[in-house]
Amino acid sequence: MNVIHIVGARPNFMKSAPVFRALSNRPLVQQRIVHTGQHYDPNMSDVFFQQLAMPVPEFNLQVGSASHAQQTAEIMRRFEPIVIEQRPDWVLVYGDVNSTVAASLVCSKLGIRVAHVEAGLRSFDRRMPEEINRLITDQLSDLLFTPSEDGNRNLVREGIDTAKIHFVGNVMIDTLVRMLPRAALERPPDVPDEYALVTLHRPSNVDDLDWLAGMIDTLATFSKQLPVVFPIHPRTRERLQAARISVTNGTFHLMDPIPYLAFLRLQQKAKVVITDSGGIQEETTFLQVPCLTVRDNTERPITVDMGTNELVGRDLAALSTALSRILAGTTKRGNIPLLWDGHAAERIVSVLLQACS
Ligand code: UD1
Repeated sequence: MNVIHIVGARPNFMKSAPVFRALSNRPLVQQRIVHTGQHYDPNMSDVFFQQLAMPVPEFNLQVGSASHAQQTAEIMRRFEPIVIEQRPDWVLVYGDVNSTVAASLVCSKLGIRVAHVEAGLRSFDRRMPEEINRLITDQLSDLLFTPSEDGNRNLVREGIDTAKIHFVGNVMIDTLVRMLPRAALERPPDVPDEYALVTLHRPSNVDDLDWLAGMIDTLATFSKQLPVVFPIHPRTRERLQAARISVTNGTFHLMDPIPYLAFLRLQQKAKVVITDSGGIQEETTFLQVPCLTVRDNTERPITVDMGTNELVGRDLAALSTALSRILAGTTKRGNIPLLWDGHAAERIVSVLLQACS
């Protein structure tokens, strides 16, 4: 069996690593990694490959940053000749980034089978670029691997053949389970014993400069009670600089994006995590650390229904209230969702091998 994994942006790396590992234990499997270059800073890409012990990608399309249409089109243009030359039996695509949808489009038109890892998630908000990527990728995929059963229900509602859908669990958690012992040995960046951890990068948040300024203000006030550790995504840094929003008023520990292991350790030790990320909602649920998601919706409702995640929305007064409650010691308890057990990739590989036999 000849497989291509397509990855491009930071969260793809943690999702593809366990599937790559599980396939490398199987005889007669040839696999290649194609990196689109959507993320290209060493601290957004290379360091993840090193820590996850992933081989250097065989191809790097080096598309870099651009508008959505340009980035998607460029990935398609550069990926197509590779697919034509390699004729893989399967192309594995991960998550919901532009690289995911671009590769799915290329393969489906060439008659190459696509398997989507992390299928079926829906925020029901089409203003989110990722929601468009999810809808299209799922329609085009030949196998759909869901992390939670809400994913299966969403796909069935959209008319996808149930024979293609497999509830396998969460591959991001496979990586977390495997790496947690190593993360425990990690010396985290210079941070206080007690802190809140913040990440922000959604365009719907950080491109809204009034909201961003208000958010920094809210965090500055809060940080006088609990210091705020804030690794800053490149998009967010750019917006803060462009709008001259100062992040110096409170007790902030600012840093560039940090490697996987150190970030895992920081999450594990945080008193609360405040984020607009997707994957972090899942990781905090697994780690049972309180998470406040500053978005109006989530494509990962299981983290709210079962886990430690709370959707506070973009209302900063609601965020302040939730933070005060957590400081007072009232935190949401949670459970770990079904099949978030470290073995999702093995289940994926069993289905893939069966589909090839
Ligand atoms: C992308 C994904 C998002 C995912 C996020 C994880 C899409 C539509 N979005 O968003 O779903 O949650 O990755 O981080 O695919 N930049 C750098 N260096 C890099 C990468 C980006 O400086 O290595 C800067 C560029 O100025 C770029 C901006 O960050 O314009 C945004 O990068 P982009 O890849 O467009 O999207 P993300 O916001 O990272």
